[in-house]
Amino acid sequence: MQSRAHYDFRSDTVTVPTKEMALDMIQCEVGDDVFEEDPTINALQDYMADITGHEAALFCATATMTNQVAIRSHLQVPPYSVVCDRRAHVFRYEAGGISFHSGAAVNPVLPKEGYHHLTADVIEANMVLDDDVHFAPTQLVCIENTLNGEIFPLDEIKKISQLVRSKGVRIHLDGARLWNASVATGISIKEYCQQFDSVSLCLSKGLGAPVGSVLVGSKTFIKKARHIRKVFGGGWRQAGILARAGLYAIEHHLPNLKRDHEHAKILANGLVELGFVLVHQPHTNMVFFDGKNVKLPGGDGFTMEKYSAMLARHGIKVFGGETSSGRLVLHHQIPTEAVELLLRVTREWIQTGN
Ligand SMILES: Cc1ncc(COP(=O)(O)O)c(C=O)c1O
Repeated sequence: MQSRAHYDFRSDTVTVPTKEMALDMIQCEVGDDVFEEDPTINALQDYMADITGHEAALFCATATMTNQVAIRSHLQVPPYSVVCDRRAHVFRYEAGGISFHSGAAVNPVLPKEGYHHLTADVIEANMVLDDDVHFAPTQLVCIENTLNGEIFPLDEIKKISQLVRSKGVRIHLDGARLWNASVATGISIKEYCQQFDSVSLCLSKGLGAPVGSVLVGSKTFIKKARHIRKVFGGGWRQAGILARAGLYAIEHHLPNLKRDHEHAKILANGLVELGFVLVHQPHTNMVFFDGKNVKLPGGDGFTMEKYSAMLARHGIKVFGGETSSGRLVLHHQIPTEAVELLLRVTREWIQTGN
């Protein structure tokens, strides 16, 4: 089936359910999940608890919801604060959710020079652990893996986890794309997840389910998270049809991530050959690049606005904008032909202006 996502490099959230997935979805058994009686949701939650090595799991509509429910569930008595990366989704792209839902101060920090990820020393220096009345004590640290497609090294995660837990602080992972990190490194989902008190894993990014994210943690934590999800208006009924899409995606689409990563490397190498600079390392399914050194025929400078307009003429979608930097995101519905077409028309455009 030809999908509208085949030439869409904007995000891995643009995939559409395949016919096979849709057929699978309508055949599942469903029940009322507020009563915890949906057998398909229960099966997904049991499966996720099992592969992550956590006691329990909770299926939610979005990864924003699993992150924010987790944060609200971890935080105890205010005043409190959360330490995370300044570039983290929980801080930058969840509409101020940490302050809105949890009333928490956020201490957003950047990695030290030369690192693409936070390190234990940076986190230690930024946690508030005493009871000085001027500050909001740190009750939670949030990590994101992958972040901008880059993999957080497990060794550093272990150091951070040990440090944070030794201080009596909780640690949450936004693992929306932990699947990609696991496929790229060969490190199991379980090994990553053991380092955290809770993990959010998304089904609707590279895995290609239309909806859904799963939060895992201890039984007590998930009981609390279920309560908070209800407060957020996220208690749902016969959503097993969506859980089934998630199970289908894990079974049938997870193996495709390897090919997406190969496509990302092909694109990254092709762009570098044409004079682009890589802004982040293409460890997984994302290529962040800058075209500030690329000169178009006639001496015009490169902008994403011009690039996206040219690509649109060939049916390829990328984000525009008056900036020289952009991104290409791979997913299971982008075939090799689309990757080749993108590189071919980029080369012709830079060389001939057409
Ligand atoms: C790292 C990360 N976490 C969380 C989310 C939130 O996902 P959702 O759109 O399902 O709320 C995203 C969305 O792209 C993301 O990239």
